[in-house]
Amino acid sequence: MEKADIIIVGSGIAALQLARRLQDHYYVMIITKDEIESGNSYLAQGGIAAPVGQKDSLNAHMKDTLEAGCYHQPEDSVKELITDGKRIVESLVHEGVPFDRKEDGSLSLGMEGAHSEHRILHSGGDQTGKYIMNHLLKSLSREKVRFVEREMVYEIVKNDRGHCCGVKTKDKDDAIRFYYAPHIVLATGGIGGLYPSTSNHPSVTGDGMALAFLAGARLSDMEFIQFHPTLLWSEGKTCGLISEAVRGEGAILLNDEGKRIMEGIDPLLELAPRHIVAECIYKERRKGRNVYLDISRIEDFQGKFPSITSLCLKHHISIGEGRIPVSPGCHFIMGGIVTDRAGRTNIPGLYAIGEVACSGIHGANRLASNSLLEGLVYGERLGEYLKGSGALSSAHVHCPLDRIEEGEPLSIPFHAHELKEGMMNHVGIIRREEGLSAHLKWLKEQPLTFGEHIDFNSREEIHLYFMWIVSLLITESALLRTESRGGHIRADFPKEDNAGWLKRKMVLQKNEGR
Ligand code: SIN
Repeated sequence: MEKADIIIVGSGIAALQLARRLQDHYYVMIITKDEIESGNSYLAQGGIAAPVGQKDSLNAHMKDTLEAGCYHQPEDSVKELITDGKRIVESLVHEGVPFDRKEDGSLSLGMEGAHSEHRILHSGGDQTGKYIMNHLLKSLSREKVRFVEREMVYEIVKNDRGHCCGVKTKDKDDAIRFYYAPHIVLATGGIGGLYPSTSNHPSVTGDGMALAFLAGARLSDMEFIQFHPTLLWSEGKTCGLISEAVRGEGAILLNDEGKRIMEGIDPLLELAPRHIVAECIYKERRKGRNVYLDISRIEDFQGKFPSITSLCLKHHISIGEGRIPVSPGCHFIMGGIVTDRAGRTNIPGLYAIGEVACSGIHGANRLASNSLLEGLVYGERLGEYLKGSGALSSAHVHCPLDRIEEGEPLSIPFHAHELKEGMMNHVGIIRREEGLSAHLKWLKEQPLTFGEHIDFNSREEIHLYFMWIVSLLITESALLRTESRGGHIRADFPKEDNAGWLKRKMVLQKNEGR
């Protein structure tokens, strides 16, 4: 058994930002089921939004964030996100993160959907996540921050007072280990891997949400899922992201017949909020028509988007032809583990930051390029809390090391593809009661329960169990929300319902009856 002051589960931007803030004060352990360099933060293309342009303002960025989120978020949290985010991005510029610049030396600021100003900072063209992550990694001391790679956390251990005190993991050979710490931070990212079409790293399947739910944490807004409009479509499947920045540079969406499909749909055309563009492409494709990004009017595409160019080449799409076939796929979940502004959950000693958390800032739909911003802001905030008042709250947490209970090994009766197809077909871009109920019935028919101490013979089975839990939470929430709002589109309830309870958030929590 190893001990740390703080255990962070996950190794994306929020995790590294937190570790950076804590390393001079605590012994920090980062546990990740893959390698540090895998995960969604590394894949982030478009960039990071901050109102740093001369014509821009905090208010304008705030208004865009609220509008994209359909005002389903607290205004004061959005204000804090943008204000703190701007300061942190400016400090990254100062520290030397190589953000792309114009010939005159000023920052090159991109445009993306639902933004009213050019405010997207980017690095290496379309490799922003990789550049920021490498910068954060370089600033971590390997003496103060220990990386545990290729171990999957499968249980959060609590003591008899209900305080978190450690985690159980399985390594790549399925051997069990135990790590002690009085503060456990979940920073495991989202759920894209629950869908067959996704921009996410395939390993991102909602582990943190399942772990938190089993530990008794509250989750909210699980029905709000953002589908990115433009994933590369090749040989009958989606193969990776084509950044919104490509539309920001002037690409337009055409169907087989050469019709500009966003005309008459939204005045912002290709730069309308993501759910509107994704829905439009989805409907076109359902009619049997292909949809293409026409990039012919973008000068020096390869120079501006080197990793997208390589992705296309890998899939035998020639940039020279001027059009890239696209289809939508799951990109981001707005909901997650309910936290306060410091990242605290309702369980003592358990915290959540980044996409796994639901602090409410994204409302019903996240504004493009606000997610790296969220990771940096909430990583910093939790760091400040744990260095300040939070340090005292868990100074001496007892852990029952002599009686770490094991559960009965269970087995999983379904294949991942069955669950994923059900999610895509029934809990995808456009939902209706019939499909949601059918998928919920299928999920509930599986002979699985929400055990306190779970055990499975393999990591693969734990993954599937966690996927089952998170799919249930999403499907139940989507069925209950009988309206359309942001990333939750119901064909049978096409309008927002601001009159009744639906204006509020739905909170899910494990109870004895489930
Ligand atoms: C993109 O580059 O299109 C994705 C950026 C984001 O989701 O914020």
